Amino acid sequence: MGNERGIAVIGSGYVGTVMAACLADLGHRVVGVEINPTKLESLSRGDVPFFEAGLEARLRSGIASGMLSFTDDYELAMAASEIVFLCVDTPPGNNGQDMTSVAAAARSIGRALHEPHIVVTKSTVPVGSGSWLEATIEAEMPSEVDRDALCVVSNPEFLREGSAVEDFLHPDRVVVGGDCQNSVDRVAHVYGRILSQDFEGGDPSSLPVLVKTGRATAETIKYAANAFLATKISFINEIASICEWIDADVAEVARAIGLDSRIGPKFLDAGVGWGGSCFGKDTSALASMAREQGIEPLILDAVKRVNTNQRHSVVRKLQDHLRPLRGRRVGILGLAFKPGTDDTRDAPAITIARSLMEKGAILRASDPMVSSLPEIPDLRIYADPYEAVCEADAIVLLTDWPEFLALDFDKVSDCMRGRVVIDGRNAFDPEVVLGAGMIYEGVGRYATHL
Ligand code: UDX
Repeated sequence: MGNERGIAVIGSGYVGTVMAACLADLGHRVVGVEINPTKLESLSRGDVPFFEAGLEARLRSGIASGMLSFTDDYELAMAASEIVFLCVDTPPGNNGQDMTSVAAAARSIGRALHEPHIVVTKSTVPVGSGSWLEATIEAEMPSEVDRDALCVVSNPEFLREGSAVEDFLHPDRVVVGGDCQNSVDRVAHVYGRILSQDFEGGDPSSLPVLVKTGRATAETIKYAANAFLATKISFINEIASICEWIDADVAEVARAIGLDSRIGPKFLDAGVGWGGSCFGKDTSALASMAREQGIEPLILDAVKRVNTNQRHSVVRKLQDHLRPLRGRRVGILGLAFKPGTDDTRDAPAITIARSLMEKGAILRASDPMVSSLPEIPDLRIYADPYEAVCEADAIVLLTDWPEFLALDFDKVSDCMRGRVVIDGRNAFDPEVVLGAGMIYEGVGRYATHL
């Protein structure tokens, strides 16, 4: 059951490009569709316009072997494929996802669909979108093409930025949802070598689980997964807030509850909370879907509120230490929403920096990969963290980059004007900070009494 006509991947963000490069590397013939001329030219050259470990090498070998090519021509892509993965962006919209890119891609697919195709939604789309997508594509299909020539299947992605190739090749599970069994089987077949871990670097001792289900169920699995991960983080952050008032250490609490196999140790790192393009968007979208059905999303609303509060709490701690905040100098360590990326979408640093500036603080920031922040154009950003902390009355860690964890606190103490260290990721060693004669306050642990 080969894919004679191969695979098309629409959209070349971190999901689409990872998918195209990895599937080509696994022996599939893949055509990537990218309508942005600059990105198309870059990808065709084998250059990836963002960083993901292991991606560029796979992209280049796929292009060199002829198994991977890129185009902006839907006719060419559709003629060369029988399975089309839709990987275009679905940014936050008014009450959920903005489906503009998906709709445009669907119309282009429809116009170029002359033979049977399976269209697979990889992008995170609201539950029930499969039917809308089917109708959108069919409305554009040439009249002579049989409507049964189209089947839409859901295959949600669970890739983390910074480890997307690893997550794609070594997933815990592959979810394929559709109402046409043959199409579901054909999409599952694309993942054959991943499911058997039959590739260089594969791990046959840890085989992914194939989950075949209905389309709406598959779409829901994506939202439920992200919303639960966000819930786990907000849960431990609420425990951290409680710990601050009972002098307990949330890191110890997290470690001990994580030893319960029903809870697990991951995603229990208390701190300034989650950012990124997914958790906030997907949790809000799921809450909107619930409300549309007349269901009050009590937990999902609370998960978002706790996360927002974590950002305000950092500002309040700085206010407690720097009375007043106005005119005081604060060094911000970390702008990206997490280490290993330059992505600042919904990054805690943006909310916190804006709030500090509104209260009159004078800011400097440092980040190993972020050199400018369009959202805050007058924020002074330094590659060298010691420049960012120089003359600061207080510093605050917002992204746990390894570079910051290696800081020499005697040197930090010498070049700061004040002594306050707010550890927004509980990543510093309090003893080291205190040993340099500074004041340390984490999140849910070890607050030097004022
Ligand atoms: C997430 C999901 O993990 C992934 O499965 C989905 O496909 C896309 O969204 P990503 O947003 O890339 O991936 O980053 P992730 O590593 O999950 O971290 C998200 C945010 O949560 C980061 O801001 C991180 O700092 C924060 N986080 C993570 C915590 O605050 N505490 C934790 O314990 C873990």
